[in-house]
Amino acid sequence: MKNLVQVVLSFLSSPLLPATNPVQNVEVVLPFKSIAVVGAGTAGLAALKTLLDLPEHIRKDWEIVLFEQRSNVGGLWLPDPHDAHPPDLPETPLYPLLHTNIPVPTMTPPGFPFPPNTALFPSHDRVEQYHQDYAQHFNLYPYIRLNHTVASSSWIGDSTAGHWDVVVRNHEQEELRKSFDHLIVANGHFHYPHVPHFNGQEDWLAGSPSTSQSREILHALWYRLPSRYVNQTVLVIGSGPSSQDLASQIAPFAKTTYHSVRGKFAPANGKVVTVPEVSHFTSDAVVFVDGSTVTDIDSVLLGTGYDIRIPFLEASGELSVLPNAHSNETYLQGLVTNMRYIFPLHEHIFSLSPSYPTSALAFIGQPVMGYNFPSDTVQGTLVAHVLANSSLLPPREDMLRQLAVREENMRLAGFDPYYVGHRMIYQDTFDYQDSLMEYLKQQGAIPQDGKKYVEKWRREAKNDQCMKRGWKRIEQLGIEEVWLQGVESEEDWVELMVRVNEWQHSWEAQNHLTYPIEPFFS
Ligand SMILES: Cc1cc2nc3c(=O)[nH]c(=O)nc-3n(C[C@H](O)[C@H](O)[C@H](O)COP(=O)(O)OP(=O)(O)OC[C@H]3O[C@@H](n4cnc5c(N)ncnc54)[C@H](O)[C@@H]3O)c2cc1C
Ligand SMILES: *[C@@H]1O[C@H](CO)[C@@H](O)[C@H](O)[C@H]1NC(C)=O
Ligand SMILES: *[C@@H]1O[C@H](CO)[C@@H](O)[C@H](O)[C@H]1NC(C)=O
Ligand SMILES: *[C@@H]1O[C@H](CO)[C@@H](O)[C@H](O)[C@H]1NC(C)=O
Ligand SMILES: *[C@@H]1O[C@H](CO)[C@@H](O)[C@H](O)[C@H]1NC(C)=O
Repeated sequence: MKNLVQVVLSFLSSPLLPATNPVQNVEVVLPFKSIAVVGAGTAGLAALKTLLDLPEHIRKDWEIVLFEQRSNVGGLWLPDPHDAHPPDLPETPLYPLLHTNIPVPTMTPPGFPFPPNTALFPSHDRVEQYHQDYAQHFNLYPYIRLNHTVASSSWIGDSTAGHWDVVVRNHEQEELRKSFDHLIVANGHFHYPHVPHFNGQEDWLAGSPSTSQSREILHALWYRLPSRYVNQTVLVIGSGPSSQDLASQIAPFAKTTYHSVRGKFAPANGKVVTVPEVSHFTSDAVVFVDGSTVTDIDSVLLGTGYDIRIPFLEASGELSVLPNAHSNETYLQGLVTNMRYIFPLHEHIFSLSPSYPTSALAFIGQPVMGYNFPSDTVQGTLVAHVLANSSLLPPREDMLRQLAVREENMRLAGFDPYYVGHRMIYQDTFDYQDSLMEYLKQQGAIPQDGKKYVEKWRREAKNDQCMKRGWKRIEQLGIEEVWLQGVESEEDWVELMVRVNEWQHSWEAQNHLTYPIEPFFS
């Protein structure tokens, strides 16, 4: 702390920051604004890019800074150079064998496709590189402060005016303090493991047979290489796409791989044995809800999801953690996370906490599905325009009323809004994206062009896993290069997806193979 003044000064005069000289003696003086973005994953990069896309005359006097705690952009696609063990959290859940689970053309925002010769379902390193290319191409790096962790952020002011007092730690562990008018939070939601507790798990862990290595229960956040499970009997718990991926990676190495899923049984997948939901543990067995048991399990991997936490807002009391909060009773007290849902937010973006103006705190990337870059781009566009003209947002009371109506409608449709949270189950992600863009057009913030934001091909590509099976077969045949020949533009990528899909469909039909229609994200 002794060097705080000096540090702040060097921070403010840093050549990395774009020049932000207040305008003097000019005819039109636009309001000076300062904006901090937290996080340089998909969401933060999209937020930064859409801010810079505002017309020059609107944003020319804005100071825009993005803080990223890690050493480069890319968020969870940037591998962790350390080998973290519980309780230390790794920087990312990324594992070496991770490939995208949706075709890459559907992962990109309009107009910036992956480079030629990228596999349709590439390895994670291509996605990491894509984020770096994106930052480079749109000249984002000058605005990004790498190795800077936002430690806390408090609002100094009231519901109509004020500023964020932001404390940032650099990688020499020095604390910097600076105020901003607006805060855009894009800190990701796959960082804090949700670890359920099962009755009897302590007895089970203590009951390791002395001959083998000790038993283990580990959250998937720490999963790295399947070879670790050689000759073990492994139980993967969780119904999401990533649990399925882990089970099929581990199966070739393990003695036996069980996959515990809730509700409907996924069809048996190679060597993986599907089992029901876990009920509890005993000193020598795992007991499932149907009463069946398995006794020889060595390792349990929890694909049980993540908690929504934002430590730098919790630290300053701007976000309350109320794990059991389950209604709108707290709306007028401030922002709350029940670990699955942050509320009250307008359109999953703007905080409606009465402590500050409705444009003061925005979230990018809360909706959970797999099409983040396009969705983050629309959200970022809305935020950018709202920062330019806060009248684009309806009055707070109207937004709160809209949210109450939405939650009520979800309940009527059989969904619990406080459990579903930001998962795009009730509302289709593409409809959501179109509706945000449509709103900006209706308000006259962007020109009416008669087009939908989400292209028809994107909706069509969502339909089933046939394309993925097709690409797998292409890789097994070693003919990727032939298929990728000449694929460059966005149209080429779309056409490639159609070709792969048709090729696989007709092969499956000829061979009388049938698969259930499974969307990439359901
Ligand atoms: C295993 C796995 C596989 C996935 N596969 C796919 C896929 O195939 N296709 C797909 O489209 N999506 C996939 N996803 C979804 C993925 O989450 C999104 O694609 C997207 O990368 C998320 O970006 P984000 O910016 O929201 O979050 P993140 O990538 O988590 O980025 C958040 C950033 O904020 C930084 N940060 C956090 N707190 C602070 C702080 N206090 N100060 C400074 N910086 C901070 C973090 O360091 C990080 O860089 C997958 C997710 C997982 C977990
Ligand atoms: C960030 O920190 C890493 C070490 O953790 C260092 O190698 C890198 O040069 C730093 N980058 C910047 C831009 O300070
Ligand atoms: C795994 O089991 C096989 C067959 O019993 C054995 O040959 C191999 O050595 C074992 N591998 C390890 C790493 O224990
Ligand atoms: C909570 O929701 C109900 C309707 O479900 C609504 O009447 C009420 O006004 C809401 N309360 C707040 C504080 O928004
Ligand atoms: C700001 O938005 C409001 C609401 O859409 C609109 O009426 C007003 O003209 C906008 N102001 C400017 C300067 O664009």
